[in-house]
Parts: sequence; structure tokens; C-alpha cells
Amino acid sequence: MAGKVLIAYFSHWGHSKEFAEAIQNLTGGDLFEIETSQFYPEEHDPCSIQGHNELLADFRPELTKQVPDMDQYDTVFIGHPIWWYREPMIIRSFWESYDFSGKTVIPFATSGDIGIENTEKDTKKFLPTTNVKAGLRLETHAVASSTNQIREWLAADGVI
Ligand SMILES: Cc1cc2nc3c(=O)[nH]c(=O)nc-3n(C[C@H](O)[C@H](O)[C@H](O)COP(=O)(O)O)c2cc1C
Repeated sequence: MAGKVLIAYFSHWGHSKEFAEAIQNLTGGDLFEIETSQFYPEEHDPCSIQGHNELLADFRPELTKQVPDMDQYDTVFIGHPIWWYREPMIIRSFWESYDFSGKTVIPFATSGDIGIENTEKDTKKFLPTTNVKAGLRLETHAVASSTNQIREWLAADGVI
């Protein structure tokens, strides 16, 4: 059983947000947007340089909002765009801000072409006492046409 479900996401251009909303539609869970005081340029190239610098510096962007009562959730989806082959550093800020022991965490992502394998590995590394289930990555513009795939993934992970 999935128990009480939270869908937490960071999204710069809105595609991972769309994915989060699709999961919310299918699970009835609570949605939470991961927000930061860090400014990211809208355009790809300057944003890409900034994302790379943050990765090289192992930087932790400041979170400006907390999940109200994380303890109430049994299953937490954590979603994001792929930046530099893995999760943006703000996801590490989020992982480190809560106690996920005993919970189930399920990663999800959108990207141009890179898969979710690095995020899955990093989730297990950062949350060693958490039950991390198989994630799903969708191509940037494929969320709207992927409802069946999302449903099958949620069923395979035992969430619906
Ligand atoms: C800083 C930055 C780095 C990115 N790095 C990658 C990457 O390594 N591999 C990839 O396939 N896409 C990469 N992308 C593309 C995004 O992952 C993709 O457009 C994603 O769907 C955007 O999600 P969003 O709309 O939720 O922000 C990058 C985009 C940005 C802004």
C-alpha cells in the first residue's frame, strides 16, 4: 500500500510540473513545489552554466518553503528536470532537509534525452534508509501523451 502520498517537484520551465500534476491526478496525493531563493536564468545557456557551477561546487540552494508535516506521508515522489546528467542541486537540498527513513521515495524526471539512472543511484546514496522504488523519466514534451506509461509505472511500483 502506498499510504499517504506526497508529490514534491522542482521545475524550471514547467514540464516536470506537468508530470507531477499527472501523478497527482492518478494517485490523489498532495502536490508540493520545491522553491528556492536562488535565481535561475530563463534561457538555456546561462542557466546551464549556472547549473554546472552549482554541481562542481556541490552547492545547496536555499529552500524557501517547507513541506507541512512530512511525517504524515508514507510515499514521496520527488521530481525534477535532468540538469547535467542528474538531479539539480536543489534536490539534494530537499533530500537533506527531511528524515525519509522508513518512507518510500520514487524519483521522476523530464529531460531532453538523458535517463533517470543517476538520480536513482544518488537517491539511494543520499537516502540510505529509505525504500527507493523505480523512477520514470519522460522526454521534455512527452508528458501529455504518456498517461498510459505513467499509469503502468505507478502500478508496477504498487502505488495504484
Ligand atoms: C541547466 C540545464 C541543464 C540541462 N541538462 C540536461 C542534460 O544533462 N540532459 C538532458 O537530457 N537534458 C538536459 N536539460 C534539459 C531539461 O532536462 C529538459 O528540458 C527538462 O524537461 C526541463 O524540465 P522543466 O520544464 O521541468 O524545467 C537541461 C536543462 C537545463 C536548463
